[in-house]
Amino acid sequence: MRNSFLPYCLPFIGEEEIAEVGDSLRSGWVTTGPKVKRFEEEFAAYTGARHAVAVSSCTAALHASLAALGVGPADEVIVPTLTFCATANVVVHLGATPVIVDVDPDFQISVEAVCRAISPRTKVIIPVHYGGQACSLRDILELAARHGIPVVEDAAHAAGAEYEGRRIGTHGRAVCFSFYAIKNMTTGEGGMITTNDDDLAGRLRLLSLHGMSRDAWKRYTEAGSWYYEVLEPGYKYNMTDIQAALGIHQLRRLDGFIRRRQEIAALYDEAFSDLPEILLPPRLPGRNHTFHLYAIRLEAGRLQLNRAQLIEELHARNIGASVHFIPLHRHPYYRQRYGYRAEQFPVAEQIYRGLLSLPLYPKMTGPDANDVVSAVREIVETYRVPAGRLPEKGVSSAAVPAQF
Ligand SMILES: Cc1ncc(COP(=O)(O)O)c(C=O)c1O
Repeated sequence: MRNSFLPYCLPFIGEEEIAEVGDSLRSGWVTTGPKVKRFEEEFAAYTGARHAVAVSSCTAALHASLAALGVGPADEVIVPTLTFCATANVVVHLGATPVIVDVDPDFQISVEAVCRAISPRTKVIIPVHYGGQACSLRDILELAARHGIPVVEDAAHAAGAEYEGRRIGTHGRAVCFSFYAIKNMTTGEGGMITTNDDDLAGRLRLLSLHGMSRDAWKRYTEAGSWYYEVLEPGYKYNMTDIQAALGIHQLRRLDGFIRRRQEIAALYDEAFSDLPEILLPPRLPGRNHTFHLYAIRLEAGRLQLNRAQLIEELHARNIGASVHFIPLHRHPYYRQRYGYRAEQFPVAEQIYRGLLSLPLYPKMTGPDANDVVSAVREIVETYRVPAGRLPEKGVSSAAVPAQF
């Protein structure tokens, strides 16, 4: 057994990032300044987008994007249930109604469910690229275009991901990335919105800094002036130069980070391929999967322990694990406020029952990955249901007890 705890996720921060942050601190540019501008330009070039607007988080990116598209109290916004709460919370912040839909067995938003959920009030569709693999973007975009509805992509997991040969960042009207501590690349906290729409980019810049009419950071330089106008009550969502200092170097490392994530994912795939108790993460064609998450599922009825107990067993062997995600429709706020019931989300319910994410990040060494494999295999072998006592088919459709 390992003698130190392996967290399920950790950032990789190199000496270049540390030196660049030091440079920002010494320069006095501790809030939005020239490094944010440079980071935006480099991120736009990386994704191929015309514009990149740096903000304080992906939550801020989603909120500002919906606000810029005019989402308000009479509107509905379609979101998948297998996501982090931020995807739907921002809809509520604008007084609109989140319309939560089921996912497909590949964990991605169900196009069919989106199709059924579209109403005359649908203002935006937010697909999520779960785990760092693009959802069925082409189908979603075609469906949305037929109804004249803009798509805002929640690409929190998908910096560096590709769909049909093009990097995520230019497919939807706006694309929102997260640079939270454990994402594919990090700025501590931070986010980015990319778009090819000039007007939307202008509006996003306005909204992300108080609704002020000019490049606010320039007003403190010689080129700037003291005068500005508030055109609407915007938000305080700007990124700082300290964050951008990290981001500039993390972006340079991103492709390498992704390659390392893919290597570890391939090692896990291979190591668990002979275990019928473990369902491997879905891999879809036409994508470059960044493996932000390595989310496995336990096959129903094959183990004499549940997911929560398995996580405890991993912990006892010094291995961290987590769950992505508790589906939105299970949270008290969304259940009570909108009356969602588990039966409306049969696929997400089935996925959620045995879902857990194993450690996977560039900082992990080969021995770390092998420790995860050994721990999982040992637990599976200890708690395996003997072949003669395997359940009949159909058990897996039972409701998931609330405590799981
Ligand atoms: C799918 C998804 N959307 C949005 C967010 C919010 O990102 P941030 O923490 O940068 O606000 C997260 C963060 O975990 C996420 O996983």
